[in-house]
Order: sequence, then structure tokens, then C-alpha cells
Amino acid sequence: MSTKPVDLHELASSAREELADAGDEAALEKWRIAYLGRKGRLPLVLRGLGELPLEERRRLGGEANQLRQELESALEAKREELKQQRHTAAEETGRLDVTLPGRPKRVGRLHPVTQTMREMLEIFVSMGFSVIEGPEVETEYYNFTALRIPEDHPARDMQDTLWLEGAEKDGAPLLLRTHTSPNQARFMEQHQPPIRIAVPGRCYRHEATDASREWMFTQIELLAVDEGISMADLKGTLFEFAKRMFGQERRVRFRCDYFPFVEPGVDMAIDCFLCGGDGCRTCRGEGWIEVLGAGMVHPEILSNMGYDADRYTGFAAGVGVERICMLRHGIEDIRAFYANDLRFLEQF
Ligand code: PHE
Repeated sequence: MSTKPVDLHELASSAREELADAGDEAALEKWRIAYLGRKGRLPLVLRGLGELPLEERRRLGGEANQLRQELESALEAKREELKQQRHTAAEETGRLDVTLPGRPKRVGRLHPVTQTMREMLEIFVSMGFSVIEGPEVETEYYNFTALRIPEDHPARDMQDTLWLEGAEKDGAPLLLRTHTSPNQARFMEQHQPPIRIAVPGRCYRHEATDASREWMFTQIELLAVDEGISMADLKGTLFEFAKRMFGQERRVRFRCDYFPFVEPGVDMAIDCFLCGGDGCRTCRGEGWIEVLGAGMVHPEILSNMGYDADRYTGFAAGVGVERICMLRHGIEDIRAFYANDLRFLEQF
């Protein structure tokens, strides 16, 4: 082993210095290994004692042992000190620091479909329609029968309608309304013409969902009944709506369609915003997206409601809010609305 004289003073002072500088557990452990570990500096001195003359061995041995005790207890003390520091730091984070900038509150917002629905309603209200609401849980009568939808119509089928199992009213089964049209009859029963109402609300269908079909969606029903209302009023109102919603450049298409509660019936489509009419996934290859069904209120319904069908005429329309919202924002998949993905919803 080493034959040069051992300088315990140098060892002691560098050990004390380095221990004072150690700032965390890892540094402490490093220090322990360097000075007190099996191959550390102090054990090395102790092991080399045997080669020294007796006199010196005694002196140095005593000093080295003393130093070892000192360093060991200094290590313990330092460990304790670091632990205290950690506790204090943790306590302080729990304290109120009034000099810190305030944490911004996360402000919520309206769902894109709600935003679009309100925009649409504003347009209809500006044209003189009043906003009315009706129940989502409906009777078979209002959802189908009052609307001349026959007993054996496929829309009543289990495949399309979500029936409420075990629920009934006056012995008749209840269902989730498949459209907002039941409110035509509900309102006409209670009021006399002139009528101009817009009825927003959720509708439900037992659908196989895809990019443009959801099992839950939103409609706005329009109903106008008065003397002298004609197909021109229907087209004028709906075309004006389309232009205010989408700008003058948007093209609109009316085609004949069949709904048991109107005569004649039409569907209105808007040219596809994504492909410009060439055909894509969103418009299902058609270039057009149907946004609403409409028509002149069937005279039989007017008389059923107690109106004089020779005097009064009316038009009705059902507009899909999600589709309008998709057109507005270039959203490709209707399922995004109700998937609750904030990365999507936060964009609106
Ligand atoms: N209720 C029809 C539907 O959901 C739409 C519609 C409403 C059609 C009013 C004509 C008149 O498909």
C-alpha cells in the first residue's frame, strides 16, 4: 500500500467541503461511496495502517476512527437536513402566493349544433316565426297517426323507430320522436291561424350510422298556416333561408318528394360544399346534400284540426340542423358532433 505519509487533514477537509455541497440524495450517496465506501478513501487509510510503525499506527488509527465517526454522523445530519428542505418546499407550494398571475378560468362554449340552431332560428324569427318546443317522448298518435302516416308505414317499424319498452300513455305505446313534425298537430290543435312557428329539437331514429346519418339528430320544424299561403311562399322562405345561411353563391335544388302529411311534397338540397358537386363521401356521390323536406300541409290534416281547408292553406318544412352545421363549417362526418372529443368541439 501507500508508503507516503497519510494526510488525514486534507482528507477531512475535502470530505467536509464536498458533503456541504451535496444537494440531494444522489450526491450524498456518491459522497458516501467516495469517502466511507468499501473502496473509499478512509477505509483505504485504515487498511494501510498495518504497514506503519507501531507509534504512528496508534496515532493515525485513533484519528482515522474518530474521523470516520465524525463523517458518518455528518452524513446522517445532512440527510436529515435535505429531508427537512423537501418538506418545507412541499408545504410552500400549498401556500397562497398573491404575487402569482391569476390562473385563467376555462370558459365553456355552446356546442356547434346549438350555435347553428340559434343562427337558423334567428333567421326564421326575423321572418316572423315564433319558437315553440315540444316533447321528445311522443305518442304514436302525434308522431304518426295525426300526420297521416299509415299503420303499416315502414317508418313505424321497429327498424326505424326507437320505441320505449314498457312505457305507455292511455294504453298506447310511447316512442322517441323520429321528427319534429308531431308539433304541427300539437300546435294546430291548440291554436287558430295565422300560424308561423319554428320548432327546434332532438329527434331519434334507429339508424345504421355513417358519415351523414346519426341515431340522434336535431331538426327545426317550420309551419305556416294562413289564408292564401302557396308553394311560392314555401320556396321563397326556404330559398331565402339558404341564401342567408350560406351566401348568394350556394345553389339550391327542389325536387318532388313524398311525405304523407304534405301535398305536394318536396326536398330541398344544397350543392355539396366539399366536392363542389362532383360527388364525394359526404354527399354520398350525389353532389347534392338534402337539407330539408317540405311541402304544402295536407288539406286532410287542416280539416282534422278543425280548420276550414278551403279557406286556409299552409306549408311545413323539417330542416336537419347537423347538416346545416356541417355545410357551414366543412365538417365531413356527422358522428363527430356527439363523440365528445374536445379537440373537435373546441374548434367552434
Ligand atoms: N318530418 C320530415 C322528416 O323528418 C320532414 C318534413 C317536415 C317534411 C315537414 C315535410 C314537411 O323527414
